Amino acid sequence: MLKLTKGRRLWMKWRMLFIPDGPFGDRARGKLYEPYLKKFGKNFKVGSQAYIFNPNGLEVGDNVYIGFNSYLGQGEIELKDEVLIGNFVSITASNHLMKDGSFRFGGYKAEKITVGKGTWLGAQSSIMAGVTIGSSCLVASGAIVTKSFEDDCVIGGVPATKISTIEKFKEKYGI
Ligand SMILES: CC(C)(COP(=O)(O)OP(=O)(O)OC[C@H]1O[C@@H](n2cnc3c(N)ncnc32)[C@H](O)[C@@H]1OP(=O)(O)O)[C@@H](O)C(=O)NCCC(=O)NCCS
Repeated sequence: MLKLTKGRRLWMKWRMLFIPDGPFGDRARGKLYEPYLKKFGKNFKVGSQAYIFNPNGLEVGDNVYIGFNSYLGQGEIELKDEVLIGNFVSITASNHLMKDGSFRFGGYKAEKITVGKGTWLGAQSSIMAGVTIGSSCLVASGAIVTKSFEDDCVIGGVPATKISTIEKFKEKYGI
C-alpha cells in the first residue's frame, strides 16, 4: 500500500479532473485509488466527485461501487463484496473530541465502520463511527445510522431503526 502524502493527494485530485462520468470513468477512478487502499478486490468503481479522504484506512471487497458525490472520511472503513453506495452518502469513522470547551482543537476518536456483503446504502444516508451493518441490508435514503444492524434489515429514519425486512422487500418487488 502506498502512503497517501499531501503531494500524492494533490496529484490524484488533479488527474481525477480529466476522468469522464460513466462506467469507464468510474472504473478509472477506482484504479487511481487502488494503490493507496489498505486492501482491494476486483472491479472497484468510484462515481464522479466522490471523495475518499483516507484511502489508507479503507478496505474494499470485489465489485464495490461508491456513488456520485459520496464522502468517505477519517478512520478505518471496511466495505465487503458488492457493497453499493448511492449518491451523497457520508461514511465517517471518527468523532471530534472537546478541549477547553471547544471541538476545534480537541482531536478525534476513530472507531471502525463495517458494511456487509451486498448491502445498499441509499442516497444521502450517513453512517456513524463504530457502526457495523450486516450483509444484504438496505439503508433507506436519508437515514442516519448511529448503531449496528444484523443481516437482511431495511434500515431508515433519523436516528435509523429497522423499518422492514429484506424478505418483505423481496415479496413487494417480486424478487
Ligand atoms: C427504502 C426504499 C427502497 C423503499 O423500500 P420499500 O421496502 O419499498 O419500502 P416501503 O415503501 O414499502 O416502506 C416501508 C416502510 O418504510 C418507510 N420508509 C420508506 N422509505 C423510507 C425512508 N427513506 N426513510 C424512512 N422511512 C422510510 C415507509 O414509510 C414504510 O413505513 P410504514 O410501514 O410505517 O408505512 C426507498 O424508500 C429508498 O430509500 N430508496 C433509496 C433510493 C436511492 O437512494 N436511490 C439512489 C440510487 S443509488
